[in-house]
Amino acid sequence: MKELKILAVVASLVLVTFYGIEPYAHHVMHPEGKPADFKFSDLKNVDTSLKGDVTAGKESFVNNCTACHSLTADGFDPMMSDADSAAAYGVTPPDLSLAGRIYEKNFLANFIFDPVTATKVEHKYPANGSKVYPMPAYSWMGAQEIMNIVAYLESVSPKAIDEAGLASLAAKEERTLFDVSREQNAEVFKSACGRCHDMKYGGLSATTPKVTIQGYMGSTPPDLSQYIISRGSHYLDGFINNPQEYLHGTGMPRVGLSEQAQAEVIEYMTQVGDPKKTEREELGPKVLLYLLIFAILAYLWKRKIWSEVH
Ligand code: HEC
Ligand code: HEC
Repeated sequence: MKELKILAVVASLVLVTFYGIEPYAHHVMHPEGKPADFKFSDLKNVDTSLKGDVTAGKESFVNNCTACHSLTADGFDPMMSDADSAAAYGVTPPDLSLAGRIYEKNFLANFIFDPVTATKVEHKYPANGSKVYPMPAYSWMGAQEIMNIVAYLESVSPKAIDEAGLASLAAKEERTLFDVSREQNAEVFKSACGRCHDMKYGGLSATTPKVTIQGYMGSTPPDLSQYIISRGSHYLDGFINNPQEYLHGTGMPRVGLSEQAQAEVIEYMTQVGDPKKTEREELGPKVLLYLLIFAILAYLWKRKIWSEVH
């Protein structure tokens, strides 16, 4: 009986200590924001139920977008170097090859309609203010023309390769599944984040030069190599989807990724910043089993010794 009481005291002390180190500290350092909204339900300027026409969309794209954006997947190569286009617009306009796949449709349509409200940077670009966002709003286009462009972007975006496809690609090229999967995720990261952020441990530098991005954003976007460790996937999931909710007044734009594309970005950040995660998690239960076996042995040993003492 006495032993059980001691055990209960020790167990509660351990639990309190554990709570202080892990869940409580986590709660204090990463307060909960709203969960990610992958429908972007605050954006309602474009009727996304309209069916887009791919051919008409391509024509509008050529007339309105190719002056700034490349789209190599359909043969529109960059007109200038990254540094020159950054100097012209403040930030290098991203290549749009993956746009139709990675951005959520409602976000993409509303971004074309008005990039400032879609990315929630009104505080930096107030209406009638002196600063003008580098990409024009296409609110003058009807919803139909915008949906035509969206349909065109969707039609030319290479589809994501699924787990089975990646496995057979890895076998064919004699590479690991980890490497081919990281390569695919890296492309999503480059399209969505790569104009502003470095990912040094993944060998990626932002396409916009540092001085230029500093002038454009007012602060230098951090290298994201270790953010999966310092912020955790839960925080990143809410933050990318709605930065203002987590860092009020930040210059970081809301990036309207689909749920899948956002998971790919976060997986990439994990593959670069915490490559041993799977191994570590597989080791955990084995260590616990080992400790359990030793606890049983220790108990049996103690019983044996005390039985001789009595
Ligand atoms: C005058 C140059 C210019 C034109 C014209 C232009 N864009 Fe952009 N676009 C930019 C710049 C610069 C950015 C990056 C802005 C930033 O990150 O702050 C951008 C970003 C984007 C993004 C990324 C959105 C995101 O959330 O990351 C998409 C998609 C896009 N543009 C689509 C289009 C489409 C479609 C057209 C034609 C209808 C177009 N753009 C016309 C300059 C332009
Ligand atoms: C147009 C430039 C731009 C783009 C695109 C962009 N960011 Fe950022 N990001 C910034 C800036 C600027 C900051 C610094 C914000 C601050 O200090 O207020 C930042 C900060 C961050 C932070 C740090 C947040 C914190 O808690 O300190 C993370 C994480 C982040 N970005 C992730 C991403 C990811 C992931 C993407 C792509 C899905 C992305 N960003 C796209 C400009 C950008």
